[in-house]
Amino acid sequence: MKKALKWLAGIITILVLLGAGTAFYLNNTAQNRLAKKYDVQPKAIAVPTDSSAIAAGQKWANYLCSGCHGSNFAGTRFFESPDLGTIFAPNLTPGGVGGAYSDLDWVRAIRHGIANDGRPLLIMPAKDFQHLSDEHTGQIIAYLKSLAPTEQLWDKPKTTLLCNILFQTGAFGDALNAETIDHSAPPHFAPPRAENAEYGQYLVRLGGCRACHGEQLNGGKDPNPEAPMGPNLTPGGNLPAWKAEGFVKAMRTGVTPLGKELNRKFMPWEPIGKLDDDQLKAVYAYLMSQPQLETAPADH
Ligand code: HEC
Ligand code: HEC
Repeated sequence: MKKALKWLAGIITILVLLGAGTAFYLNNTAQNRLAKKYDVQPKAIAVPTDSSAIAAGQKWANYLCSGCHGSNFAGTRFFESPDLGTIFAPNLTPGGVGGAYSDLDWVRAIRHGIANDGRPLLIMPAKDFQHLSDEHTGQIIAYLKSLAPTEQLWDKPKTTLLCNILFQTGAFGDALNAETIDHSAPPHFAPPRAENAEYGQYLVRLGGCRACHGEQLNGGKDPNPEAPMGPNLTPGGNLPAWKAEGFVKAMRTGVTPLGKELNRKFMPWEPIGKLDDDQLKAVYAYLMSQPQLETAPADH
């Protein structure tokens, strides 16, 4: 009996050591990934200075950047959890990181997901923004550079051991876009602005709807463990009955034609609702041009 207990204790000790070893290993590899320096020379693009380009850039930035960096672009506490750590979306105005960014640095961050010190950016959806045309990228940069400086400093992200382990096992999906982007891909072109599915596809790509509504847009899950399911946006879901007008209203007010209040913490309807009517209708046209798919099961 005593011998059996000794054996058991020995086995448990070995398991604990193996567990600690694995945790140590995963934590280390995660830290190496976060600290890796990327040497990417982005394509230089023209950054305009005229007021109409800056106004266009404001619209793009409202749609694509305000959800995380705040409606005044001075940054937000993007994610905060005692168990996992804190991730800030920093201040983009000239009083924050913007002050130290050259035009090329902006392109590198927006399209490649890499900070001006070569570090890969967490969460920053550069993979979506890679689809921005040169013209629209230039307008966004022009607008951000034109902002009045807001003095607000944010720390670099801090992740806990648990967070690093989960991150290393892939639990947060593609959180470092710099790792998976094809940095030498040729630039994309924007289709002409029109109330049609082709232009809607451009907007849906940039807005990253698939990250939460699934690759086929028929339902999916945000990597954030607390988030509810992203519903089916194809003609197999609720949207056909809403008509374009109902969709526009839902994105503007956060309340669907069925009277459901959309949770603003997990569904970024406010930035989406900043698109113009014709743009929202283009998004709707694109969604309605998708195959009518059944809603994906909850574990997808
Ligand atoms: C889904 C949320 C999200 C969206 C949308 C987003 N960002 Fe970010 N961004 C972040 C987070 C989080 C960080 C901080 C990442 C880090 O420090 O590792 C960041 C970092 C950055 C940085 C790097 C700052 C530094 O520390 O050097 C720049 C520049 C930036 N974002 C610009 C933009 C622009 C421009 C847009 C819109 C075109 C945008 N972001 C949209 C979440 C987002
Ligand atoms: C960060 C994750 C996320 C992103 C990005 C996102 N959504 Fe959502 N969306 C959600 C979640 C979660 C819900 C469900 C909200 C709730 O239950 O309160 C939702 C709900 C919706 C609904 C209501 C559907 C219904 O049947 O009630 C529509 C419409 C919608 N999203 C459209 C879009 C579009 C279009 C885009 C891209 C431009 C987009 N979403 C991007 C997470 C997201």
